[in-house]
Amino acid sequence: MRRKLAAGNWKMNGTSDSLHEVETLSAMVQGRDCDVLICPPATLIDRVKRCVAGTGLLVGGQDSHHAAAGAHTGNVSAAMLHDAGATHVILGHSERRTDHREDDVLVRAKVEAALAAGLVALVCVGESEDEREARATLTVVGTQLAGSLPDGTSADTVVVAYEPVWAIGTGKTPSDDEIAEVHGFMRTELTRRFGVAGAGIRLLYGGSVKPANAAAIFALPDVDGALVGGASLKAADFGAIIDALVAAPTAP
Ligand code: PGA
Repeated sequence: MRRKLAAGNWKMNGTSDSLHEVETLSAMVQGRDCDVLICPPATLIDRVKRCVAGTGLLVGGQDSHHAAAGAHTGNVSAAMLHDAGATHVILGHSERRTDHREDDVLVRAKVEAALAAGLVALVCVGESEDEREARATLTVVGTQLAGSLPDGTSADTVVVAYEPVWAIGTGKTPSDDEIAEVHGFMRTELTRRFGVAGAGIRLLYGGSVKPANAAAIFALPDVDGALVGGASLKAADFGAIIDALVAAPTAP
C-alpha cells in the first residue's frame, strides 16, 4: 500500500521567523497517518529539523547539484542536504526547469546524485499552458518521466509530482478528470518501465492545492498526496490540507 504524503515547498520564502509555523504545524499533525515533508530553503533545514525532532515530520531540500562536491559556487550537493538533516529533495521543479534551464538529462543526473547520497528524490513533471492547449500533456509528461528517472527507480527512492506549470501559484487547477487522466497515465508508464516497483511509486499532485480543493483532489485515483507551495507557508492551511489527505479514501 502506498503511504500518503503531503509535501510543502516553501520556495524562496522563510527566515528564522517562520519556525513558529513549523512548531504550530507539528503540534497539529503529529501522529497523523501520513508522511508530512517540509522543504524549507537550505538555510533553514538544520533549524527546521531541530524544530520537528521527535514528531515524525520529515525535512527536505528544494534542489541539489548533480556533482558530489567541487567548484560550483553557490550550489548545494545532495550529501550536504543529507548532512543538514534532509531525507528528501525536490528535483526538476518547473521553476528550476525554467529559471535555470534544467532539462531531463540534468534532472536525471541530479536524481542519481541524490540517491547516491541517500536522499529520496521528489521529481516534478508537468506541461505548460501552451502544451496543454496543444493537447500535448501526456506526451510532455511521458517524455519528462522517461528522461528524468534513472533505471532502477523504486518506490523507496523516488516520488513523482505532477505539477502543471500553469497551475503553480495561479489559483487555477486542472479539472478532476484531467488530473485523474495524467495520474493514471503516469501509473501505467511507471509500471510498464519499473514493474511492481512502478506500481508502488507515490504520485503527488501539485499546483494551487489549498484547503478548499484538497479533498476533491485527494479522492482521485492514483493521487497519493500533494506538493504544496503557497499554502504550505501557513500551518493552518497546510494542516487543513493534511487533514483532508488523511480523510481521503486509501488506494486499493
Ligand atoms: P503552489 O506551488 O501550491 O503555490 O501552486 C506548488 C509548487 O510549485 O510546488
